[in-house]
Amino acid sequence: MRSILRGNLIQAPALGQLDCLPGGCLLLEDGVVRGVVPTPPEGWQEVPVTDYGNRLILQGFVDAHLHGPQYPMLGTAMDLPLLEWLERYAFPTEARFADPDYARAVYRALAADLAAHGTTRVVMFSSLHTDATLILMEELARAGLWGYVGKVNMDRNGGKNLQEDTEDSKRETLRWLEQCGVFAPQIRPILTPRFTPSCTDGLMAWLGALARERDLPVQSHLSENTGEIAWVRELHPGCAEYWESYAKFGLWNGRTAMAHCVHSSARERQAMREAGVLAVHCPDSNINLCSGVAPVRRMLDEGVSVALGSDIAAGACLGMLEVMSQTVRASKARSLLTDGADRPLTAAEAYYLGTTAGQRFFGVGAGFAAGERLHAVVVDDNALGPASGLTLPQRLERAIYRAGQAEICAVWAGGRQIGGQRGFL
Ligand code: GUN
Ligand code: FE
Repeated sequence: MRSILRGNLIQAPALGQLDCLPGGCLLLEDGVVRGVVPTPPEGWQEVPVTDYGNRLILQGFVDAHLHGPQYPMLGTAMDLPLLEWLERYAFPTEARFADPDYARAVYRALAADLAAHGTTRVVMFSSLHTDATLILMEELARAGLWGYVGKVNMDRNGGKNLQEDTEDSKRETLRWLEQCGVFAPQIRPILTPRFTPSCTDGLMAWLGALARERDLPVQSHLSENTGEIAWVRELHPGCAEYWESYAKFGLWNGRTAMAHCVHSSARERQAMREAGVLAVHCPDSNINLCSGVAPVRRMLDEGVSVALGSDIAAGACLGMLEVMSQTVRASKARSLLTDGADRPLTAAEAYYLGTTAGQRFFGVGAGFAAGERLHAVVVDDNALGPASGLTLPQRLERAIYRAGQAEICAVWAGGRQIGGQRGFL
């Protein structure tokens, strides 16, 4: 069935490029984008139109790094750096997901919250618990979201409450992969060694082989904090740099997403570029845990792929518009730290990073990609101040800095409306 969405269309096909079409039409056929045009073409004149009037129609937001089981601690526990924070707050919070009923309640609320904030695709960590991970996948699918979800592997340094035996970790990973196929293609599995300190060499090697055999993507953390980096050096004296502790086990390729990369050296960044590894920048988390300020402009200039993540609950903001404004602010801190050498990012660039750059990890083209199911967020910026006299790029900038959940009035994911006038799930 054909349909048309009309409104002020704003897409970011490339870094720094905004394509704006005031009062434009998104042509849909069974939820798949057929074109972005100023007026309905031949054969589309009789097609039903959903008219969003003067509102902004943005691309769906991609949260390329977040931890589902940390949702209960969102906005708390901000007083420690990474390694202490994990032990004191994150691990005990995640340990509660051994209880499937608890997991169900939390994950249902999280999925609804993500949709209400305009996040339509996620690349997400669950906990080490297989059943809770399957529940997370089910709840995301039920809410209409799309994404990759990983059962976390951790067979060392998790304390007594959040650690698996190596053999259990392997067995449970296989059980999870067997059972999660029912959620594809909407929600798909991604292998998730938590980070090098959490996984023995044996488990890492097994995961690398599994990724290759089954052609699975991989996510983990990289060079987030100086204490973490020193620890990895102790654990892997044969590796000159942190990334090598993934690469040597086959966990470093064009389907790998690495969160943070705050302290990545020039050589580590080069290894990312050469392998096509995605760096996921999580600006709020990096400040909250005092991790540092990531050199995002430098990475982009060097040709490294960068997307954005909320990294809840080290990050306190679930909404990607807020993560985009945090990205611009962090880039200014970086500019100050480098005496202007690292130029700040613009709002338009942050919008690209939070949309098209994340879509690429899903193999989806730029902007409202033709031939793909529609992912879109409709923003009513009326209450943010008078729009008269503002251009569409200015209105996008203001939405990035000022819009919240209240301004998001409709969300489309996978070609269907998942929230909006009829309420969010
Ligand atoms: N490194 C390993 N685990 C985590 C986590 O849960 N959050 C963050 N920010 N970094 C990590
Ligand atoms: Fe993280």
